[in-house]
Amino acid sequence: MNILLSVIYLIATVTFIVGLNKLGHPKTAKNGNLIAAAGMGLAIVGTIFIHDLQVATIIYVLIGIAILLGSIIGWFIAVKVEMTKMPELVSLFNGFGGASATLIGLVEFSKNIDSSMQAITIISGIIIGAITFSGSLIAWGKLNGSLKSVIKIPQYNIVNNMFFIMVIALAVYMIVSGGYNPLLLYGLLIGGLIYGILFVLPIGGADMPVVISLLNSLTGIAAAITGILYNNMVMLVGGILVGSAGIILTVAMCKAMNRTLASVIFGSFTATNAVEGSNKTLGSIKSTNASDAAIMMNYATNVIIVPGYGLAVAQAQHVIHELEEILVNKGVNVKYAIHPVAGRMPGHMNVLLAESNVDYSILVEMDDINPQFNNADVVLVVGANDVVNPAAHNNPASPIYGMPILDVENAKHIVVNKRTMNAGYAGIENELFYNSKTSMLFGDAKSALTDLVSELKNM
Ligand code: TAP
Repeated sequence: MNILLSVIYLIATVTFIVGLNKLGHPKTAKNGNLIAAAGMGLAIVGTIFIHDLQVATIIYVLIGIAILLGSIIGWFIAVKVEMTKMPELVSLFNGFGGASATLIGLVEFSKNIDSSMQAITIISGIIIGAITFSGSLIAWGKLNGSLKSVIKIPQYNIVNNMFFIMVIALAVYMIVSGGYNPLLLYGLLIGGLIYGILFVLPIGGADMPVVISLLNSLTGIAAAITGILYNNMVMLVGGILVGSAGIILTVAMCKAMNRTLASVIFGSFTATNAVEGSNKTLGSIKSTNASDAAIMMNYATNVIIVPGYGLAVAQAQHVIHELEEILVNKGVNVKYAIHPVAGRMPGHMNVLLAESNVDYSILVEMDDINPQFNNADVVLVVGANDVVNPAAHNNPASPIYGMPILDVENAKHIVVNKRTMNAGYAGIENELFYNSKTSMLFGDAKSALTDLVSELKNM
């Protein structure tokens, strides 16, 4: 490989690492993304024009058409996608990554295979890519609502594991026997595709972000394997970064939900309307209106806003920022409490509030904000439910017991905005709504916050 291409790959590799590092903070994340994308662009251009100088013109034309089509479709989808639909998009893109790894494996398999190591690499890429492709498509279908129910085959754990063992056994046979027979290869491909479907089908729709992160990690591993195959450093490093970041994110999400990865994969939360494991009567709730809630906040010294999934659904990020600015202008000290798994994707609340230019310095992470609830005169919970559910502390029988939550119940007054008394993601009742300090402000977040803003403006 010529020196220029090596230098290009080195630069691209560095941009991936710098970009990933910058993704760690909302302020630098956009630049990080652009830097890594520029590096990827450079690596693609370098590969096309420098890797092989003997390429026929028609190949350049075909590559150009493919890139143009892919870029137009990708750009159009990315510009149009709503923030709440982002996990769907990631899932679809993951699937394409897996498909690419599989297609590369199939093409390479048709060439001469010189060593067992090469066979292992190609076969692993095909299996992982196929599982990622079909699994991601199922995840995408579940998230966009076209695959609504959790489909569980009887004894699906045993069936899935047996199937996986069969796929691996076939792969081992092909490597050990050197029997690189196209029929076996397509059997392996179909086996990988079926396993991807079997793996994701029984998982609850709302658990999909965790599964997508896991599949994302698999895409990275498939890319890294392809990097080994081609002795391509940039592909190897890029794949390893995606693979390891995906695993870290998967583990972090599970930890923040106090669930094991196995419990996400093998069983979703069971919805129930009772307070699990306790015979407590929940008591009565107290409703409030925009006028009373506005008065409470107007005369407060410290207000903490807790955003959740409902804020994102209602697209109320701009109006909440307006509310915060009005309060700050009135001399109220306002902060946002950010729970790591509030919403439906990692960093959801940070991304949402960044859209409306909320100052990052007032977005306070859970561990730092929890001790401050004692001093809060009012906590305004907007479209959040599980992340403020005291059952996580009080009820050992609750499915969310042990999950770290925002300690809003320590505040003097709590105003909760949501539309109904319906449960959140975990499907469980929330005692906080029945707390004597809590007032329920029912309504869609956008209209409730708009009413609050106009009440505050009139004071
Ligand atoms: P949830 O517990 O899901 O509660 C959201 C609440 O928003 C619902 O109770 C709903 O009540 C309300 N809501 C919906 N639309 C609304 C609207 N238009 N206006 C006002 N309220 C609305 O959300 P959360 O507290 O953010 O917790 C997130 C949950 O998702 C956690 O259990 C977490 O483990 C899980 N999860 C998160 C992730 C990531 S990575 N963030 C991944 C997988 C799972 P109404 O229907 O009554 O309005």
